[in-house]
Amino acid sequence: MNKIPVAILGATGLVGQRFITLLHNHLWFEIAELAASDNSVGKKYGDAAKWQLPFEIPESLAEMTVLPCDPERVQAPLVFSALPTDIAGELEVAFAKRGAIVSSNASPHRMDADVPLVIPEVNPEHLALAEIQKQKYASDGFIICNGNCTTIHLALGLAPLHKRFGLKKVIVTSMQALSGAGYPGVPSLDIIDNVVPYIGGEEEKVEIETVKFLGEYKNGVVAFAPIRVSAHCNRVATRDGHLETVSVEFADKPSAGDIIAAFDEFRGLPQELNLPLAPNRPTVYRREKDRPQVKLDRDVEKGMATIIGRLRECNVLDYKFVLLGHNTLRGAAGATVLNAELLYAQGLLNNVGQSVRQIVG
Ligand SMILES: NC(=O)c1ccc[n+]([C@@H]2O[C@H](COP(=O)([O-])OP(=O)(O)OC[C@H]3O[C@@H](n4cnc5c(N)ncnc54)[C@H](OP(=O)(O)O)[C@@H]3O)[C@@H](O)[C@H]2O)c1
Repeated sequence: MNKIPVAILGATGLVGQRFITLLHNHLWFEIAELAASDNSVGKKYGDAAKWQLPFEIPESLAEMTVLPCDPERVQAPLVFSALPTDIAGELEVAFAKRGAIVSSNASPHRMDADVPLVIPEVNPEHLALAEIQKQKYASDGFIICNGNCTTIHLALGLAPLHKRFGLKKVIVTSMQALSGAGYPGVPSLDIIDNVVPYIGGEEEKVEIETVKFLGEYKNGVVAFAPIRVSAHCNRVATRDGHLETVSVEFADKPSAGDIIAAFDEFRGLPQELNLPLAPNRPTVYRREKDRPQVKLDRDVEKGMATIIGRLRECNVLDYKFVLLGHNTLRGAAGATVLNAELLYAQGLLNNVGQSVRQIVG
């Protein structure tokens, strides 16, 4: 079987490194090109990347020469973007215009009306928006985004509840790991012995992306879910894994048993289609009184699930609970790759065949 050649933009960064580990030896995709900033262009990937993961860089990739993030130089028909926010906006459009399908982890296009912001278990029907972009760009290219790392896990945790019982209000407080700020991230003297109660732009992203994820697609438009979301976001001195405490109010208050059953039973299209990166259980409810914990639970289901626990009555809203998710796996690169797997399984990558032969011969 011919694999689809893919490029990684921002390949040397923290999310880029996760892409490398998830895409190396992938069933359907083959890493053909790696691209990064001018600091890395022309170097061997192994020399350019400040490798942060506890596995060796695959040898064939360590030897690959890093390209510039230029749509004229990077030819792969499927592009994974881990570009910084300030340059992702224009560059991703340039790639889509030249016919590439861009699965992006960056934020600039997430809230564009014609860009699907997708969690495959939650809102795969939003993919239909891609057709509007193809017409706009007069090409086969389009952009699909995953959400912010905190929002993806919040939306995965809320989806089983909203789908069954209808949510009205959500208050969330996050404790976000350092790897969420990229490499080298927050200076050590700012975070050791400290909690920083501010992450620029994060609260706004959590509040607006959540209602797009949980919104309803109809006739080319996503109507945001009618849920009021209030977020407090904090940076804490953990390495990986964002912990979130959540209070919720329902349209019709269910029993605690019904809520736990909704978490236990939640499954979506990735599980039905058996996508390579799909977790068996996208939401895992733990019954212990002191779980989930960051160090103990972030790698459950290979970092692709949202782990929930401590469901109890709330004195202000209806219920409260804790949730946890791996920020660079399901919160970033894992989400981007799962979105691309969904595109593949839905036949949306079928017309990339010609370019496949040109690149991998
Ligand atoms: N870390 C997370 O948990 C997380 C979660 C969700 C979303 N995100 C988003 O994902 C993106 C990447 O984050 P990260 O954590 O991987 O950041 P990072 O570790 O700082 O890596 C940034 C990457 O972008 C490249 N780059 C920087 N400036 C560039 C330029 N002018 N032209 C081309 N490439 C350039 C860097 O290449 P060089 O090495 O050559 O400088 C590097 O490969 C960001 O948009 C971030 O907001 C991150």
